[in-house]
This record gives sequence, structure tokens and C-alpha cells, in this order.
Amino acid sequence: MALRRFDIEAGGDAFAFRAETEPTIAFWLGKYPEARKQSAVIPLLWLAQKDNDGWLSEPAMRAVADRLDMPYIRVYEVATFYTMFRLKPVGKHHIQLCGTTPCMLRGANDLKTVCESKIGKKFAVTDDGKLSWEEVECLGACANAPMVQINDDYFEDLTVDSLGEIIERLRNGAEVEPGPQVDRINSAPEGGTDVLTDDALFDGSRNRTCPGLPNLPEAEVIEEPTPEAIGKSEEAPPTNTKREETALVDVKDVAGERPEVAEMDEAERDNLKEIKGIGPVNEGQLNELGIYTFAQVAAWTPANVDWVEDFLSFPGRIAREDWIGQAKILAGGGETDFSKRVEAGEVDSSKDEGE
Ligand code: FES
Repeated sequence: MALRRFDIEAGGDAFAFRAETEPTIAFWLGKYPEARKQSAVIPLLWLAQKDNDGWLSEPAMRAVADRLDMPYIRVYEVATFYTMFRLKPVGKHHIQLCGTTPCMLRGANDLKTVCESKIGKKFAVTDDGKLSWEEVECLGACANAPMVQINDDYFEDLTVDSLGEIIERLRNGAEVEPGPQVDRINSAPEGGTDVLTDDALFDGSRNRTCPGLPNLPEAEVIEEPTPEAIGKSEEAPPTNTKREETALVDVKDVAGERPEVAEMDEAERDNLKEIKGIGPVNEGQLNELGIYTFAQVAAWTPANVDWVEDFLSFPGRIAREDWIGQAKILAGGGETDFSKRVEAGEVDSSKDEGE
């Protein structure tokens, strides 16, 4: 980053905000609590720069510091850090020429040559005080590269000729027209657009109601599938929010074959969490599908596995964690290393191990 020093001589001894700036200052100060009014330092520096012919003198920075009860050095730090603040006098029309890659690729270097030949070196002010220029980083108008900012206005899609003409007009006090200097509106295609030209796209006549949105007219409401349609017992009430969500899945679209549904008393159920890979959430979801025992899991066919994985949205996991192999051992009265740990109370489920 370049060292930026302010011009201690050029600014004289005093600075005062213009009377018409005071409401704007009050607006910015009003955005922050009194104890945090220093937060307005950048807007106030910007206003001071505007009231000081486009640059910040040292008295102007002190005036900002006084308004905000800030040490002068804190305001100097901000002003010298941000290149939007100019620290020496500039011309009445100060040109910021973007030299960043998109503008450079589109001819910014040629525009620099125009500035140098018509104005002089960077930050030199013409003898009549009307013009100065500097090179800046991207000004956010890359679609209209190359471009310059002159005081508060953007001039875009420039060429050597168009920038040269703008500079001469400013020098002579003539009007200039900001914006793209070619036949385009903002960053729309040059010569006008040839796509999306149908007025009906923009007059609202093509708006359609999206099915599935709440508060639809009665006829378009999507009906919740019946228990029969999704193969669930009508008596089996939703037990949690997840159950309510999965009940709305159209089971016809679930790949594979649904496993046999069982009903059994609590006492007959196995602790499915003894299968490594089944935590309390998965166990709850399996129970809600009517799957309670090791024997049921052990009997799953590949089509059942596909169905369960698709329904619960974890493809490949059952095989990867060998649920069926574990279930066969447990259903036959055996134990796995993991089930022993659950039995011993070392873990409640594999979720305790971050699985
Ligand atoms: S690169 Fe010039 S405006 Fe972005």
C-alpha cells in the first residue's frame, strides 16, 4: 500500500462545514448512539471532503474529530488509510480512472495516456484549477469497462476519443452526459436488447400460482395422502415432527420395496441402537416405519434396503455399516463388539461416537 501523507500546508488554518451540510451530518449522527458516534467518521470525512473542494485538509480532519470527540490521530488514521479520501488539493473536476484488470483489458492504459496528455501527471492540477486525475482500483462498473468517475458521476464504455472530448468539455465549462458513452442503457446490450423483449414477461399476465404454496384456492390444495396410500396403520399417530414430514412423502416414488410392517408391544422390541450406525433418531424413524426388531432388519432384501435408504435419505449407508450382518448376529442371540459396549452402558448408541 502506498504511503499517504496529507498536505499540511495547502489547507490553511481553518475549515467549516457548509450550513447546508448540517442536516446531512445530523442524519449520520442520528444513526448511532451518542456513545458510539465515532462510527460516523467515514460519512463525516466524506462530507468534509465535499465541503473542502474535493480533498481533506488537516483542519477539515480536525473538524471531524471535534464533532465526534475523537483524538485527531484516530481521524488521520482513517483518512490516510482509505484512498477515497484525497489528501492534497484536486481540480474542480477530479477524474478517478479505473486501472483494474477488466478496465485495463478494455483500454484503460490508453485512457491514462489521454489524462497524462490533457491534464498532466497523476494528482497534478491544471493551471486553471479545473482538472486533475488519479488511477484507482475497480469502481464496480466492470461491465461497462473502461470507465472513469468524475466527481460523483460515472462515465462508462469510454474510448480515447470520448474521454478526450469529455475532458475538453469540462475544461471549457460545457455540459457532459454521465453514464455509458455508447448506445446502451446502463449495462444492457449495446444497441438494445434482443432477448426477453416480450412485454408480457413484465406486465404480470404470466404469473402462475405455484402449487404447494400455503393459502391456495381450495381446488389446488395438495391433499395429504391417506394412511392406506402410504401403507401405515391409521392408529399409528405421528409421534414427532419428523414423522409428520415423512408421512407426506409419496411412497409410490420411493425406490425398492417397503419392508413388512409389524406391530408389537414395547416389551417385544429390540434395542436397535445396538446395531452400530443406528442412533436414537434412526431408531425412532425405523420404529415409525413399523421396524422394531433385529430379526426384521436381518430379513431385509436388497429391495427393502433400497426402500429404507431412499425413504430415510441415506443412500448406501446400510451396506456400508453392515446393518444386516450385525442384525443377523444379534437376532441369533449373539453379540457384536459394539452391542457389548451398549449392553455394558459404555455408550447409548453409535451417535455417542460421532457416527
Ligand atoms: S475493473 Fe474497472 S470498474 Fe471494475
